[in-house]
Amino acid sequence: MNTENAVAAATQFDIDQIRQDFPILHQEVNCRPLIYLDNAATTQKPQSVIDALTHYYEKDNANIHRGIHTLAERATAAFEETRQAIHRFINSNEPEEIVFTKGTTDGINLVASTFGRMNVQEGDEIIISAMEHHSNIVPWQMLCEEKGALLKVIPVNDRGEIILEEYKKLLSDKTKLVSIVYVSNSLGTINPVEEIIDLAHEHGASVLIDGAQSTAYLDINVQALNCDFYVFSGHKIFGPTGVGVLYGKRRHLEKMPPYQGGGEMIKSVSFEKTTYNDIPYKFEAGTPNIADVVALKAAIEYINQLGKSAMQAHEESLLTYAHERLADVPGIRFIGTAERKMNVVSFVFDDIFHFDIGQMLDARGIAVRTGHHCTEPLMNRFGLEGTIRASFAIYNTKEEIDQLVEGLNRIVTMMRR
Ligand code: ALA
Repeated sequence: MNTENAVAAATQFDIDQIRQDFPILHQEVNCRPLIYLDNAATTQKPQSVIDALTHYYEKDNANIHRGIHTLAERATAAFEETRQAIHRFINSNEPEEIVFTKGTTDGINLVASTFGRMNVQEGDEIIISAMEHHSNIVPWQMLCEEKGALLKVIPVNDRGEIILEEYKKLLSDKTKLVSIVYVSNSLGTINPVEEIIDLAHEHGASVLIDGAQSTAYLDINVQALNCDFYVFSGHKIFGPTGVGVLYGKRRHLEKMPPYQGGGEMIKSVSFEKTTYNDIPYKFEAGTPNIADVVALKAAIEYINQLGKSAMQAHEESLLTYAHERLADVPGIRFIGTAERKMNVVSFVFDDIFHFDIGQMLDARGIAVRTGHHCTEPLMNRFGLEGTIRASFAIYNTKEEIDQLVEGLNRIVTMMRR
């Protein structure tokens, strides 16, 4: 974002009003005002999302795509309106390319179990990076084990950036799939996914983008990215837990076998033969998580109303401020200093265990995550068991970062006495 736009966006941002929208923030934890800096683990929910959930259960609850009664029709319409909203939000070519899942992990497993099983054979290769979340490692390991395929890993440099030259060396006509995280949950690195996707396509490989951390802030246009699959979770974009999205290009989704068998994913069933439903329903067996899908639309509307450019400007100013202020804490060592990064600061103190710091911050009402952040191989790359991770969202303030810095200063002084 250029400076002029950033200033304009930042001035539109009424942080007091935004904080009012999130009821959970207004409480004390351990006798201190809550400072929630664990947004990479999950974001808090605005009142409109909570209201959408309550409204659904109070007024509209019914099973979808089945009943002809009024409640069933209302519930079905609300459910499908979210599909339309997501289609516009990430600019898929059509709403049928949007499949509801339980979350990012479920989306990746779906692709591994269907597209992966169909397209990856003995001797083929799958490429991931060294900064992947376990959910973007284990499903591919399982697939490789089943098929006799090979998992290859792009290394990262000391700043926590993918080494593109190494990626280019790994690509070959054996590569069937590249599965890469857009924004690292542990380091905040923003990966050059456009280039990664283009290079994979030049070798005939398909690409899945793990959008768990990117979707709330970055402008996502799956057609412009030209990725084959894009997955994300509702709960990391101010929506409910237990609901996520898989975007897939129609030509892939149509060829892929179903993920699970059951109601809804069929057109007709006899003991001799079952005919599968059209996309996206072919991948939505059983009664879905209707209420949370319905409430996810309220989260999308909330983001749209704030505007991603204003959100980005606020998030960027918090990240810059956090790096500047935290740098003064004696003994701090940042892990992840990529040129392009967002909303995550990961750090360690070589003489104090990360877990102890996390507990002592919690005693001051400050919520951060400590540990390997479900990226054990990445921690190994940096010779660490884990880090302390502060991750920011639209409702965080510079004053909260000041509190974090003050807390850390007191903790490290006390621990070193
Ligand atoms: N993936 C989530 C995190 O980074 C849970 O904390």
